[in-house]
Amino acid sequence: MAEAVTAGGSPAVCYADRAFSVAARIVAHAQVAEQTFRIRLECPTIAATAVPGQFAMVRIPSRNDPLLARPLAVYDTFAEGRHADFIYLVHGKFTTALKDIPVGDELLVWGPLGNGFDLPPVDHLVLVAGGIGNTALLALGRERLGGATYGNPARVAPRARRVTFCWGARHAAMFADVDDFRAAGMEVHLATLDGSAGRQGTVVDLLDDVIAPEEPSLRVACCGPEPMMAAVTQWAQRRGVPCDVSLEAPMACGIGICFTCVAKVRDAEGGWDYRRTCIEGPVFDGSSIVW
Ligand SMILES: Cc1cc2nc3c(=O)[nH]c(=O)nc-3n(C[C@H](O)[C@H](O)[C@H](O)COP(=O)(O)OP(=O)(O)OC[C@H]3O[C@@H](n4cnc5c(N)ncnc54)[C@H](O)[C@@H]3O)c2cc1C
Ligand code: FES
Repeated sequence: MAEAVTAGGSPAVCYADRAFSVAARIVAHAQVAEQTFRIRLECPTIAATAVPGQFAMVRIPSRNDPLLARPLAVYDTFAEGRHADFIYLVHGKFTTALKDIPVGDELLVWGPLGNGFDLPPVDHLVLVAGGIGNTALLALGRERLGGATYGNPARVAPRARRVTFCWGARHAAMFADVDDFRAAGMEVHLATLDGSAGRQGTVVDLLDDVIAPEEPSLRVACCGPEPMMAAVTQWAQRRGVPCDVSLEAPMACGIGICFTCVAKVRDAEGGWDYRRTCIEGPVFDGSSIVW
């Protein structure tokens, strides 16, 4: 297995070496929110090995445009590790084409890729999503509450006493399958910019409302647009608590060759260097990112 070097100087595994490239049959595909679709793929090798925070590169085999696969977070796995679900927002060429691909067709899927979330002991885990960033977080919350295991062999996750999920979106119609988070036992809080669901304001406003100032052993895990993740990282720094961020950098190759996906990450000497989100992320310590 290849190794890359992280910002802190410690070796990072090159996850592409243990990913699978498969033709995965679509077993379910439906709209779940405004411009948002959920797709279930039969991909046993990927579903059985993925851990929360990992992603797959997905491509439509019948099309050459777009030629390159796109990264999608593994939302959850089902059917004893035979199926993996992905939720996507219709955004550009790939997702516009994907929404019309019917059940029964196949997609080319390569994964699981990326590091996924680490599992330090935590009392209260706060998951913070902006927009479609929820997709990286459901499995982590389920795992930490003991509701599911992931990986092969299944990794042992220290239980959190409590998992709170804070989700911000432009308006109510953009929340997709929010009941998945409730069903997993998480406390769910919503914020919308127009006030059509939950608190009116940003997800950072929401954090101030729902997280008491003196929480023991708090940890934040966050995914969403970059400015939102920067604001959540600053919020966590003000509280003196760790914040993991899952970056959604555009990716071309997914295997560390093209440097499309780089992020500026601080090093131990006080400088920074470019790190590839596809093989050294997508999960980083938020305080290490030069936002
Ligand atoms: C690790 C990871 C996990 C992801 N998981 C999901 C997921 O679960 N669901 C989901 O809907 N999306 C997810 N994304 C984002 C998704 O891969 C991109 O939005 C992808 O570009 C969509 O492809 P497209 O062809 O539809 O749009 P494109 O044609 O690629 O993009 C349209 C426009 O958006 C810009 N753009 C593309 N990607 C980004 C980006 N990441 N940030 C800002 N601007 C961008 C492009 O420059 C272009 O102008 C994830 C990204 C990463 C890196
Ligand atoms: S996507 Fe090519 S190096 Fe990361």
